[in-house]
Amino acid sequence: MQVPFAKPHFTGTEGALVAEVIASGWVSQGPKVREFEAAFAARVGAAEAVATTSCTTALQLALYVMGVRPGDEVIVPSLSFIATANSVWHCGATPVFADIDPDTYNLDPAAAERAITERTKAIMPVHQVGLPADMDRFLELGRRYGVEIVEDAACAIGATYKGRSIGAMGPPACFSLHPRKVITTGEGGMITLQDSDVAARLRKLRAHAMDVSDLARHFAKDVVIESYPERGWNARMTDMQAQLGLCQLQELDWILDRRRALCKRYSAAIAQIPALQTPFEPDYAVRTWQSYCVRVNARAPIGRTELMRRLLHDGIPTRRGVMTIHEEPAYAGAGVGLPHSEAAARDVLILPLFPDMTEQQQDYVLDRLALHALAQAA
Ligand SMILES: Cc1ncc(COP(=O)(O)O)c(C=O)c1O
Repeated sequence: MQVPFAKPHFTGTEGALVAEVIASGWVSQGPKVREFEAAFAARVGAAEAVATTSCTTALQLALYVMGVRPGDEVIVPSLSFIATANSVWHCGATPVFADIDPDTYNLDPAAAERAITERTKAIMPVHQVGLPADMDRFLELGRRYGVEIVEDAACAIGATYKGRSIGAMGPPACFSLHPRKVITTGEGGMITLQDSDVAARLRKLRAHAMDVSDLARHFAKDVVIESYPERGWNARMTDMQAQLGLCQLQELDWILDRRRALCKRYSAAIAQIPALQTPFEPDYAVRTWQSYCVRVNARAPIGRTELMRRLLHDGIPTRRGVMTIHEEPAYAGAGVGLPHSEAAARDVLILPLFPDMTEQQQDYVLDRLALHALAQAA
């Protein structure tokens, strides 16, 4: 059997709806993007949502609008996708890596606090693979030290923290709409926030800071000569992507339910395999299960990478767990000892998971996993 590693869920109705957008003639950022933003904000419970081309551009714009500039430091977890740090670098600032909580794999608020200096402008907690970071403690740090909080919520649409929706807690929260995330627009991102003035500025900054939107100019009854009061970016989503996003939002609850059910099955079976450790289940959060991460115990008879290799030979692609950015050549020299992050990057793998996964596919994964995890390394 060949099991896909990940696969977005589509109903088959999306193509015709996207074709209608094309037939309308408005294919760049326009009315559908506005509609998608309103639907996304409503789903998350935020006052505002601003669409972008990716989570990476969303993070960059959010950091910029919160005042991050060259010379500033932004505290981030190293255990994250490299985009987390690159978005800081795109602002000309320095990412400062802090360690994770070894249970949740999320940025440890105490480690983040120790990393604060006079140059710290912001802290960027990541809701890693859709498990909410300890937001109350980050919000408190932000208030106490006068630093901004920007949330990397790439994988976290639909997650809640102590009953509050991720994306609706005040700071700008940035979501990814890449196909490996919970819902997708092919590529795409979204910033949700509560402050309408900041949202209005973000809408300008994503279109080179032009002081009138294409939409407003199109419907204006008089000639509009635009102006550019500051410098900005092109981070505009297309209306075709927004239409796909609207379709995906309709499926979100079903997708979340399926992911939860599949992960419950994974955990029930994997808990019986002594070499492996199931994901930590916090009682304060509802996660999205964007990925299912398994840890290979230190005393297991087989190493993480050898286990991945054997599964791949059986038609089961896996991925290493979340990377450590400070151990990549691109950030060499930013190295600080981050033992919990380094151990997690070494010992964790991600199993196949997608909403349309069948029980037969999952049973096959579990069967081969149990076999190889108990075998001695060759
Ligand atoms: C934690 C995290 N942040 C940021 C990103 C970047 O998202 P995008 O590909 O939409 O730019 C990702 C994507 O994998 C991610 O996992």
